[in-house]
Amino acid sequence: MKILVTGGAGFIGANFLKLMVPRHAEHHFVNVDKLTYAANLMSLSELEGRSNYTFERVDIAETEAVVTLFERHQPEMVVHFAAESHVDRSIAGPREFIRTNIGGTFELLEACRKYWQPGEGLFHHVSTDEVYGSLGATGLFTEETRYDPSSPYSSSKASSDHLVRAYGRTFGVAARITNCSNNYGPYQFPEKLIPVMILNCLENKPLPVYGKGENVRDWLFVTDHCEAIWRVIESGKSGETYNIGGHNEVRNIDVVHTLCRLVAQETGRSEAEKKDLITFVKDRPGHDLRYAIDAAKIGRELGWGPQETFETGMRKTVKWYLENTAWVDQVRSGEYRRWMDQNYGTRGSA
Ligand code: NAD
Ligand code: DAU
Repeated sequence: MKILVTGGAGFIGANFLKLMVPRHAEHHFVNVDKLTYAANLMSLSELEGRSNYTFERVDIAETEAVVTLFERHQPEMVVHFAAESHVDRSIAGPREFIRTNIGGTFELLEACRKYWQPGEGLFHHVSTDEVYGSLGATGLFTEETRYDPSSPYSSSKASSDHLVRAYGRTFGVAARITNCSNNYGPYQFPEKLIPVMILNCLENKPLPVYGKGENVRDWLFVTDHCEAIWRVIESGKSGETYNIGGHNEVRNIDVVHTLCRLVAQETGRSEAEKKDLITFVKDRPGHDLRYAIDAAKIGRELGWGPQETFETGMRKTVKWYLENTAWVDQVRSGEYRRWMDQNYGTRGSA
């Protein structure tokens, strides 16, 4: 089967392709990515030259580019990761979030409607628990929780979820949606909480905790998310939504304390010295207090559950950033972007 994977050069998409391309020689994976700042094809160098992997530099918000892509590859499935994903950037400048997350999803759905007969094809939409808004001290997000997004990012993802459902109901595009909690692990761009804290901790720089650090996120190791998506692709039902989460609710300040301990242990330094780096800074506007996922449906119906605990996943992640300083240096110096532009031009394939 020909599978388009959008956003495959980003954090979760790259982890997904690194797992699925070698494992599924029976499928051909086309990685479709615009190569924004968040993309890094160096993360995928091991896949280059594989006969069941192709890369296409395409902006999913460009109608003609998406049409050409569908005509060239005639995909039978789309796994849609591509998005602007960082909440703080959506507050600083929402335009690209609306363009890519809503407009890009729309262009893909239009192509599916045009090229697939009803009953043909599968659109898997990768979404977020942030569409549900913020929880108070108790309760969990279920698949029935009312949408109530707070940021430009989460409202653009909520809009894209609605479009996907509308194309299913109105035009018969077979679609599944997964709404997942916070991911962490290898290859995450150093703007998100966990890589920021690990790298600053290693370099003895301030650890900027927003507000009082009391906001709670439900952490899931990235490969657990990728395996859950594959499980939904293989065994889920079209028209259904599945929540994915790690049962790992942790306050931000406790995440940072854990990382200080792990970095200290892995580097032979003092934990107290690392904790002294914690600096409380101005809070994020509209900062959701708490996310927590009820993942009972995907467990009950599809038999999925996370393999990593918070402790094992965090230790793996700290070790990965310690052992992959070349990847970090290339990101920070901008070398990764120069390399992608030289090798992949503005709309090439490889
Ligand atoms: P990311 O920012 O690391 O990667 C996004 C990728 O999309 C990048 O490679 C980027 O180049 C590509 N992209 C952006 N605009 C594009 C466009 N117009 N055309 C083609 N490609 C484009 O994001 P991520 O953290 O890997 O998240 C992937 C998906 O998972 C997103 O849809 C996000 O909403 C969702 N999600 C993320 C998390 C998380 O914790 N990171 C949790 C739940 C859901
Ligand atoms: O819940 C899923 C979402 O998780 C995904 O949909 C998003 O794409 C992803 O970016 C993530 O959103 P968050 O806003 O929760 O992640 P972030 O890493 O930006 O922040 C996690 C928490 O840490 C949040 O409460 C804000 C706080 N924070 C973040 C940064 C970057 C800090 O206190 N300091 C920081 O420097």
